[in-house]
Amino acid sequence: RAALTKDPHPPPCILGAEDALSSLRSALPARFLLGTATASHQIEGGLDNDWTDWERGAFRDGEPHVKDRTVSGAACDSWNRIEEDITLLRRLGANAYRFSVEWSRLEPTEGAWNEEAADRYLAWALALRAAGIEPMVTLHHFTLPRWVATQGGWMKDRTIELLAAFSRRVAKKLGSAVDLWCTINEPNVLATMSYVKGVFPPGLTDSRIAAQVLARMLKAHARMTEAIREVDTTDADGDGHATRIGVAHHVRIFQPATRSPLDRLIAGFTDHFFNAAIASAPFTGRIELGIPGVVDIDEAVPGLLGSFDYMGINYYGRDHVRADLRDPSLSKQYVPADRPVSDLGWDIYPEGLYQVLKRYGALGLPVYVTENGIADKGGKVRPSFLRSHFEALVRAAREGVDVRGYFHWSLLDNFEWAEGYEPRFGLFRVDFDSPDKRRTPTPAVETFQDIARGLGLRP
Ligand code: NOJ
Repeated sequence: RAALTKDPHPPPCILGAEDALSSLRSALPARFLLGTATASHQIEGGLDNDWTDWERGAFRDGEPHVKDRTVSGAACDSWNRIEEDITLLRRLGANAYRFSVEWSRLEPTEGAWNEEAADRYLAWALALRAAGIEPMVTLHHFTLPRWVATQGGWMKDRTIELLAAFSRRVAKKLGSAVDLWCTINEPNVLATMSYVKGVFPPGLTDSRIAAQVLARMLKAHARMTEAIREVDTTDADGDGHATRIGVAHHVRIFQPATRSPLDRLIAGFTDHFFNAAIASAPFTGRIELGIPGVVDIDEAVPGLLGSFDYMGINYYGRDHVRADLRDPSLSKQYVPADRPVSDLGWDIYPEGLYQVLKRYGALGLPVYVTENGIADKGGKVRPSFLRSHFEALVRAAREGVDVRGYFHWSLLDNFEWAEGYEPRFGLFRVDFDSPDKRRTPTPAVETFQDIARGLGLRP
């Protein structure tokens, strides 16, 4: 699929004009967080030493499955360039930044602890705060330390306690500077990509295992939440809450390909398994994952009830769903040929963000859009993508959804997992061949600045 260079359905622009900007401010809460999101393995660099399950031999067949056989390697070298990155955030007018801490860096072998690295993460959080940027910290963003993966990783219950203990340690260390926590990034994507589609390590294709893994991640989330609440008692931003904890939940629109009852049924199951089961878990305290003939999990989980303080939503688009009972996911998912798409072929569908905010906002928790973005090599589509999606958010807020923040994915081009370095998600382009990993602005930086100005975050 060719990259989109021109959006055939340009959205009406509410940003830019003076009157529109003042209404933008009135539509959103006073402390609305406007930021960007990243993850350690994708930007930090220095993680190419076999510490994680993403490098050499991490897959069941012993082969790396990343396009062009790349590893994240030096990435954006953000481990050594946080000050530069903070300068970029300031230039954007951002007042929030979501980043993750790398478990394999902090705990490279079982029982070891890298206090120096922990100090550096704390220094980041403090430096962000000093720059007027609220940190949101993700504790698990796809990677497992090698020593956890070789013990069975997400296929073993022990990982739940290991991750809870790690979270306790991080929360204790960073709690004085961090209030906003994201326990696990996209449990559904991780379970699906690793255990149904087999493209993330360990590379399996078994829906039954994927469902068990997903259930285990929700159990881990519950334990992590307990651990964080126990040790982080400092209200760093003075809003009356020492912690606000959630999951960054990847929500997609699953559109039945036809009106046939089977397509609709399978789209419904897919929506339940992928979207609804996780979103409803903190309200029921149960994990309910059913796929007829494949899996039937219905279990009360201690600590799950009330374990979300907010609903984090990662939104990237829509899939059409055609039933295909031979596929492990029971369907073929695709984007119709007439749709505008990203460089990765993902449907550009801002309306879907409005729909998911309305649907999940109605559950009663504050919502953060913890990720939203597009692979756009030419940099020409991101401005309208950003504008139209932000506009969808404002529309949902005007209709009563308690949406408290928006984090664009991403600040920088970075290591896009199985897709390697080709997709370009950054507001700032990164020249990976240059020794200083040079960052240069894309046209969407101006769009972001317009929004920041509209929110009163920039002059
Ligand atoms: C969601 C994931 O959290 C992030 O790691 C990834 O790079 C983006 N989506 C884009 O695919």
